[in-house]
Amino acid sequence: MAEAATAEGLGHTTTRMTAGGALKMAAGLWLLTTLAGQWVFLYYIAAFYGGSTLSGNFQAWSRNDALFKGYVAGDAAGNLFFAAHVLLAAAVAFGGTLQMVPQIRKRALWFHRWNGRVFLATAGAAALAGLYMVWVRGASANLLGALAISLDAVLILGFATLAWRSALGRQIADHRRWAMRAFLAANGVWFYRVGFMAWIAINHGPVGSTRHLDGPFDIFWEFGCYLLPLAMLELHLRAERSGGGAARLAMAGGLAVSSVVIAIGVAAAYAIMWRPLLG
Ligand code: HEM
Repeated sequence: MAEAATAEGLGHTTTRMTAGGALKMAAGLWLLTTLAGQWVFLYYIAAFYGGSTLSGNFQAWSRNDALFKGYVAGDAAGNLFFAAHVLLAAAVAFGGTLQMVPQIRKRALWFHRWNGRVFLATAGAAALAGLYMVWVRGASANLLGALAISLDAVLILGFATLAWRSALGRQIADHRRWAMRAFLAANGVWFYRVGFMAWIAINHGPVGSTRHLDGPFDIFWEFGCYLLPLAMLELHLRAERSGGGAARLAMAGGLAVSSVVIAIGVAAAYAIMWRPLLG
């Protein structure tokens, strides 16, 4: 009887460990796909906005007709906020994912510390510049869209502050959680583009989306682009901490599916949105 119970216990432990290994592998795959996808975005930002913005040739932004308010003649302040925003966006796309790579944290802690400060500061500043563009410049499709991106900005600022404070206080477990939340919130705009393009590619068209971005999918994804990744993170943290074999396997499956969707979305975003602007 006791032997059977021990064998059963061992069986559970082995399943949990195997599921734990699958979860680690799926998280690694997700991170790798996201890192590659963020750098495609970085390449687009640098290639399309880098030269024109640094040389003051703001009119060149007008080639991007997907913008609500890019270059506006006579609006010097608004144009400068936009310029600052895209340059900060490049720093966010460059540094964010590197913070998540465990090998860098282990082998080059000094880089993690400096890149972390730069990431949190630039993400916070980009969020503030974004709020200016939305509420002062009116750069949004509608009120719901403006509210959705503003909630993201508030989350970026809140999570970044908590990640910073817990790092200063050497509360490493808390810091890891807040930093991951800050990372996902700061990448809400990237998830928005990539998710939207994956949706279009999978459905062979913009199902549930309108020209004014007020269709059911538009409204769902304006909030979902950061709330869904944040919800997945909470499930991940729970599965990692106290989940049984089934919970860990389910989470690993979710991350693997999400990696495939991200890969489709990045390829579609590059082909449909970014590549045509770089030619
Ligand atoms: C922190 C991470 C962020 C990154 C990496 C980022 C990136 C970008 C990029 C690359 C653009 C240029 C548009 C394009 O070519 O696709 C842009 C535009 C813009 N962003 Fe952000 N952004 C971030 C956060 C935010 C936040 C939090 C807000 C709002 C509060 C915001 C509001 C805007 C607005 C209003 C525009 C102009 C859109 C238009 O006129 O169509 N961004 N952003």
